[in-house]
Amino acid sequence: MTPINQIIINKKTDLNAVWIMRQAGRYLPEFREIRKINTNFIKLCLNSELSSEITLQPLKRFDLDAAIIFSDILMLPYGLKQQVEFKKDFGPLLGDLNLDKMSKINETDFIEKVNPVYKAIKKVSTNKILQKKNTIGFVGAPWTLLVYMLNQQSPKKRLKENFFNDKFLINKILSILEKFLKVHIKNQIDSGANIIQIFDSWAGLLEEKDLPIYVLLPTLNLVNYVKSLNVPVICFPRGIKNYKNFCETVKPDVISIDYEVDPLEIKKKIKIPVQGGLNPKILLSDKETLKKEVKKYLNLFKDHPYIFNLGHGVMPETNPQMVDYLVKMVKDY
Ligand code: CP3
Repeated sequence: MTPINQIIINKKTDLNAVWIMRQAGRYLPEFREIRKINTNFIKLCLNSELSSEITLQPLKRFDLDAAIIFSDILMLPYGLKQQVEFKKDFGPLLGDLNLDKMSKINETDFIEKVNPVYKAIKKVSTNKILQKKNTIGFVGAPWTLLVYMLNQQSPKKRLKENFFNDKFLINKILSILEKFLKVHIKNQIDSGANIIQIFDSWAGLLEEKDLPIYVLLPTLNLVNYVKSLNVPVICFPRGIKNYKNFCETVKPDVISIDYEVDPLEIKKKIKIPVQGGLNPKILLSDKETLKKEVKKYLNLFKDHPYIFNLGHGVMPETNPQMVDYLVKMVKDY
């Protein structure tokens, strides 16, 4: 069994497993080199030769316990034929949402559009380098995808004023998302993904009263689906604050915590395995500070099933040597 599975399934506390959100990405010069000549990000995600190579880049450098497939949560709206592009220095930009067109899409159409993602997972998961390591597949949570699809760009700190106006539209999109998220999860697992992480990057934008309908219930539904396929599921509901309530309602196998939540509170209140927490900005400081902060998490979760990770994605400005130092420190702990 892989170290991460031993932590999740057997609740082991003496293994120092680590992987890093956005570990395949812009802080690596070898990624930037590929990216420079592949200016279309979506096309790059759909090039299974290159996307599998990029997925493995960090594993060639660091002793990580998992690969996360190089793809994006926005491959889902892309598969549903909403236009998606990534503009330099701006981020994701989505086209208008055509509900009629979207409602007509069937499973075969969708799979045809995103099939290279599954091909890449197959390549990665059968690579020798991943023996005794996990291959993580992922999806965006329904709420976060709804935000991008309706807002058509990152909401930054807030939603559009009239975001909730058209409840009919929202419910329609949520039901389409539920169907195709399941298709996407199933195909990733069938291709070799042996953990699924659900990213809810914008969960923190909601008021407490709206969490059940937009975050808790739709996520619970997906979590139960992943569990029915006998694969562990990690949830990352960034910014929600009440992680205890989330865990008790949604019951993921692992909860990934952001850097704004007090890890001590989490340890006291949460019984399931925990992942992450460290502020990615710490990697921009110096080795001494990094050591102190990493130790803080490791010491705190010493007797708790814990997977080391950051509290959000690694930043593009990060020096790979700091990542190397971090991974070694976790392994030597
Ligand atoms: O290494 C990994 O973690 C796997 C790959 C991965 C990417 N995106 C690649 C990527 C994963 C897991 C994601 C998830 C994702 N994508 C999320 C959830 C996690 C989070 O960060 O909150 C979200 C919200 C997105 C949507 C998205 N994609 C954003 C907001 C951006 C950044 C835009 C920018 O220019 O800063 C992306 C682009 C993206 N996704 C990049 C990578 C490596 C950078 C693309 C580039 O090279 O320009």
